[in-house]
Amino acid sequence: MRAALGCTAILLLPALPASAQGSLNLYCSATIEWCTPIARGFERESGIRVVLSQKSTGEMLAQLRAEARNPRGDVWWGGTGDPHVAAGEEGLTVAHESPRIAELHDWAQAQWRQTEGRTVGVYASVLGFGFNTELVARRNLPAPRCWADLLNPAYRGEIQMANPNSSGTAYIVIATLVQMMGEEPAFDYLKRLHGSINAYPRSGTAPITAVARGETALSISFVHNAAEEAAAGFPVGHAVPCEGTGYEIGSMSIIRGARNMANAQRFYHWALSAEAQIAASAEARKLQTMANRNVPLTDGAPNMATARIIDYDNARFGAGAERRRLLARWDREVGALPR
Ligand code: G6P
Repeated sequence: MRAALGCTAILLLPALPASAQGSLNLYCSATIEWCTPIARGFERESGIRVVLSQKSTGEMLAQLRAEARNPRGDVWWGGTGDPHVAAGEEGLTVAHESPRIAELHDWAQAQWRQTEGRTVGVYASVLGFGFNTELVARRNLPAPRCWADLLNPAYRGEIQMANPNSSGTAYIVIATLVQMMGEEPAFDYLKRLHGSINAYPRSGTAPITAVARGETALSISFVHNAAEEAAAGFPVGHAVPCEGTGYEIGSMSIIRGARNMANAQRFYHWALSAEAQIAASAEARKLQTMANRNVPLTDGAPNMATARIIDYDNARFGAGAERRRLLARWDREVGALPR
């Protein structure tokens, strides 16, 4: 399954009961391990056949733009919030209201209100660091605690973060640093950090997978992904940066021109339910905070309430023009530099 991360994965799920009512094209920007139980859970509940396609959040936004005149997807579930906000602003997704909005945490409702109903939060998690506890000990490296620590020359060649063009996670790294430091210092930091980065893979989870496998010592990742690797038995620790950090509002949007609009709306309503969120996250062993307030935090899940998080400016960093500008600047001033 892991081999599919960062690539497009198209799955036709198993045969359905005779009551099947059409189909649903589900675009998913979480990991395939989580997209699959979401798709299967909805199939079981509705009898509607789900065709699932998985891509990183930035890549899925690019696909929605490319398909704007001939939309192929019905619902886009999961992935970081900024590209969903950009899609809404660009008219690629449509407003929708479910009676379950009132059951959601404030951050999930705020995402929905701010975009005038075009996207809604389905989960949230905090950005931080993951590290391989065995590698760090063997190489005599300090465990990272703060953003400033990552510039320690001892980490040269030891850190991975994803490519922000494809990965919503890595775009949140840039947006977080710009909000915390100001844009010029943030880009100076990213340039200095570049010297310690050994790879910028496409998917936001690839760096923590590399940490778990002992291929790199450190990653910039959502801390729940690090906690999931530790729960699976890998020697992975995590830290929430001491200076404070950003977070994602994993989101869901209905695609403009959806061919299966009624099924898309049915999925949307189902996906906001506590039952769906509890069942799919348990099956996928996910440790995010789910959007429905009636979903308890799983044992071992990082608690957002105790993390020092910034007041992330979704409107600014989700805006399409700002996103393009920051990514172009990163490509020019950071990604293009030799390492
Ligand atoms: C993983 C995380 C999600 C996140 C997603 C973003 O699936 O568990 O919380 O939304 O990555 O993926 P990306 O590849 O766009 O960074």
